Amino acid sequence: MTSERILAGVCASAALATAGAGGGGSTAAPAGDPDARAMAAVQQMTLAEKLQLMQGEAHLRIDPETKEYVPTPGTKGGDGYSPGVPRLGVPDLQMIGAGLGVTNLGKRKNGSATVFPSTLALAASFDRELAYDLGREIGRQTRDQGFNVSLGGAVNLIREASGGRNFEYMSEDPILSGKLMAQNLRGIQDQKIVATIKHFAINDQETGRMVMNVRMDERTMRETDLLAFEIGIKESGVGAVMSAYNGVNGVYASESPYLLNTVLKGEWKFAGWVMSDWGATHSAAPALNAGLDQEMFKPKYFGEALEHALAWEQVSQARIDDAVRRILRSLYASGVVDDPPQPKPIDREAGAAVAQRIAEEGTVLLKNDGALLPLKAGAALKIVVVGGHADRAVLTGGGSAQVESIGGNAVAPKKPPPPGPIDFRTPVWTAASPMAAIQARDPGAEVRFVSGEDLAEAAQAAAHADVAIVFAVQHRTEGLDTGGLSLPDGQDELIEAVAHANPKTVVVLESGGAVLTPWAERVGAVLAVWYPGERGPQALARILFGDVNPSGKLPVTFPAKLSDLPRPHAFNYEHTKEGESDDMKPFTVTYVEGLAVGYKWFDAKGLKPAFEFGHGLSYTRFEYRDLKVASGERVKVSFHVHNAGGRDGDDVAQVYVAFPPDAGEPPRRLAGWSRLSLHTGESKRVEVEIDPLALSIWDVKAQRWRKPLGVFQIFVGPLRADFHNDKDG
Ligand code: BGC
Repeated sequence: MTSERILAGVCASAALATAGAGGGGSTAAPAGDPDARAMAAVQQMTLAEKLQLMQGEAHLRIDPETKEYVPTPGTKGGDGYSPGVPRLGVPDLQMIGAGLGVTNLGKRKNGSATVFPSTLALAASFDRELAYDLGREIGRQTRDQGFNVSLGGAVNLIREASGGRNFEYMSEDPILSGKLMAQNLRGIQDQKIVATIKHFAINDQETGRMVMNVRMDERTMRETDLLAFEIGIKESGVGAVMSAYNGVNGVYASESPYLLNTVLKGEWKFAGWVMSDWGATHSAAPALNAGLDQEMFKPKYFGEALEHALAWEQVSQARIDDAVRRILRSLYASGVVDDPPQPKPIDREAGAAVAQRIAEEGTVLLKNDGALLPLKAGAALKIVVVGGHADRAVLTGGGSAQVESIGGNAVAPKKPPPPGPIDFRTPVWTAASPMAAIQARDPGAEVRFVSGEDLAEAAQAAAHADVAIVFAVQHRTEGLDTGGLSLPDGQDELIEAVAHANPKTVVVLESGGAVLTPWAERVGAVLAVWYPGERGPQALARILFGDVNPSGKLPVTFPAKLSDLPRPHAFNYEHTKEGESDDMKPFTVTYVEGLAVGYKWFDAKGLKPAFEFGHGLSYTRFEYRDLKVASGERVKVSFHVHNAGGRDGDDVAQVYVAFPPDAGEPPRRLAGWSRLSLHTGESKRVEVEIDPLALSIWDVKAQRWRKPLGVFQIFVGPLRADFHNDKDG
């Protein structure tokens, strides 16, 4: 039996009355020393030195004569580079992408690094410590490869289910995304590396990302996308923010006084610097005056044009100094000046261990009929592994977060990559074989692979096996939304054919987000492993055979059908050529779901998804009782969790809150959670402290967070457990 069914009977709810006190989080602690050092350095810098630091090149530039790409002098082959000021001991800024591991778009020699699972897997673990540990490993590897600024930290909300970059992002929920991202960034910065959070803000789809203007009212913005940033920034003290490509309410994000000056630097007291996304700067004076501190990639505005603007009094010397001071402050505060990175071989074992933990904790068991899983080792099982190149590799997401694994792409591309330095479209596979890991875990099993290209062959192999494991893959990449959620290349038919031949079929989904699962009724078990990283196969084998009890919970909703989503595909996708949106004309996006992003939309509309946010089965079952809510300065929710099944396991107990009806909120919002391990038969009392932001709404008139008056309801348990009785709970 599954935890889900038991929970459906025992989901607890309680009411909480509040008096309308203001909410809000803590602000970053002021640090005297880095500020003073930054100030002193700024005073000694020439204007040319200042402007140089305010611009960043890429690792490659086009040679004006040959028109060929050539390495930018001074870079270490990262994504961004600004020369420092040696006479003042200010180091060069050497920036490198590192959301899912240290990247190598510049094709450095020895530039391969640990391939971590996609950020979705981390989010599915709901594990703050693991988020920190990932940051620590990324920080170390960034340092060991000689870089001092890390460009990971992608925390855009998963608002668009088909978003090309969803695998880099965390979740549909701003509190889950913000809290985990903060830990991740702390982990990076504790290794004396400047971390970055991006893309500020509302870059929630790839279609037309350079030309789209998102229209969104302030309350919606604050309570959805900006909330993830607010938490991520305030709880980490991150050194840099990357502004987004798109516009917000008629102004490019990179020159939005509201986003940069008012909210980020004013209200949130962000002390670091704002860099633009690569090529996202559109002006000199307006951008600088709005709060942008650094122009990245083929700079056009923050050099001569800014000098001109200064002479014409369109910008002040003080604002230029402020921009430089912010960059220097983050460098001093991070430790990269006093303890510069010394290149050395990365610790692959330490990286792999964390990669494996993320894959183990972040794998979500979506379905498990008749306890098909775990498989029994040593039972001479005949196992057929089907599709997804599972005989040799796991899939990764494409774009600037792409990590180079040892040996490069393990699956030869169908089409030769197009000319140019970066190709985001070609799927890149990491050499790591699920089939070999399954065989290694159960040497007595007869494990066979069929490619899945021939349906009849796959079905026949499945018919003769005790269990069939189908690997279904969906590639996602930066710059390209998926245009729907169906598995490509006839994989739905493949799964149907295999399941028809043998109902003991396990589907393993390697995807960069939600996919449609029309065959779910006819297969025995489904596991979402996302892009599972270089240790994905080992993690999967341990889950399949029950060494690890699955504990991941969905950070995104898997809809039952496309028409249940607010949009069947990204806004304006139909005006692209297969998603290619480089030549698109500017357009305005209005996101009809408003506050009801992701699971909140399904909840608000009463739509039953295929698998809801927060869902994830276990090989044991957990029961909750004795819910108590203590209000005070911070609301504390406590309850008993009991492992009532036959196996040890980890649970993620989720706390949702329903606001007073007048508050105008979606039916429920995730307010907190606790991840805990319980032996079989064991009970623990759990206390979840609720962040006041989770009980607040943005009061546009008062320009502050406010806890609405009235009765709140607190629910413990997965969303669907009380799906139809939220009104009278
Ligand atoms: C991406 C950023 C990335 C940058 C540098 C841009 O295309 O949007 O996320 O950090 O490239 O690689």
